[in-house]
Amino acid sequence: MSRVTLSRYLIEETRSNHTPADLRFLIEVVARACKEISHAVSKGALGGVLGSAGSENVQGEVQKKLDVLSNEILLEANEWGGHLAGMASEEMDNAYQIPGQYPKGAYLLVFDPLDGSSNIDVNVSVGTIFSVLRCPEGCDSGCDLGEEAFLQPGTKQVAAGYAIYGPQTMLMLTLGNGVKGFTLDRELGSFVLTHDDIRVPESTAEFAINMSNQRHWEEPVKRYVGELLAGKEGPLGKNYNMRWIASMVADVHRILTRGGIFMYPWDAREPEKAGKLRLMYEANPMSFIIEQAGGAASNGKQRILDVQPTSLHQRVPVFLGSKEEVERIAGYHQA
Ligand code: AHG
Ligand code: MN
Ligand code: MN
Repeated sequence: MSRVTLSRYLIEETRSNHTPADLRFLIEVVARACKEISHAVSKGALGGVLGSAGSENVQGEVQKKLDVLSNEILLEANEWGGHLAGMASEEMDNAYQIPGQYPKGAYLLVFDPLDGSSNIDVNVSVGTIFSVLRCPEGCDSGCDLGEEAFLQPGTKQVAAGYAIYGPQTMLMLTLGNGVKGFTLDRELGSFVLTHDDIRVPESTAEFAINMSNQRHWEEPVKRYVGELLAGKEGPLGKNYNMRWIASMVADVHRILTRGGIFMYPWDAREPEKAGKLRLMYEANPMSFIIEQAGGAASNGKQRILDVQPTSLHQRVPVFLGSKEEVERIAGYHQA
């Protein structure tokens, strides 16, 4: 049987009128950039890419060399092709303007160039997360693109995906009609369709949360996790297993593969922040993927995809994964 590469899948999507040609091109370019990042990540110490870059991003986080390099790879790959009106990233304070010498296009690309940076130096899976929005009327004209153009709820995403750099490099993608998984064939240099119709099981017995923050959580989260830990003898009547990789990409990938619930709630360490994870380039793309795979994603009070963003680097509490469990924790917030 002939293998379906990402390019072939995208061409077939365009032929059946699901995907405009310029969106297809955009995804191809992002995938190419992810291959390059995968290559850099896999070189590790041999490539001189480990360790800190000696700088901080707008959120006051220390940037790793690979955060900076991955950001540059994505910018350079995407700025010239004429498919974008602008870009925004975890690693840049403001919206990135397409340089004047290049044509502009209809889409906005938002990304977390390297997710799970704390895992880079210890050789644990990291990834790239991206979200594609349509540029509002008029924003592809000559004038500078402002932050407002990006502030669209997650329901407006036309595509989202992530690449995971683990034992295998994979690209998981949604164009709004299900989730496909592609594995990088290093000899071919292509992403090959290996996971055709990814579904998150509705119920689960596995959860992911950073337990060291337990004392800072709000009551509904304390109650819910307490019940998970109580296992068979507790109100939920079954034993739960726990995993925490500390790369959202890797934790979400596990959930897409075998189910589970992932949580990064608000906590009292930095009470003025709504949570740790960022809405535009972490929570929204992951929520779109999870929903497209039959799961659910909530901030406890509402569906994440319905949250109206007010700033580019806004944070949000995240509960996502198997529907039954996400609905349960959302219910505890209402109680
Ligand atoms: P990033 O490396 O892009 O800043 O994201 C890290 C995020 C996310 O990937 C992960 O789920 C979470 O931070 C881990 O946080 P803790 O270190 O608090 O467990
Ligand atoms: Mn991240
Ligand atoms: Mn990051």
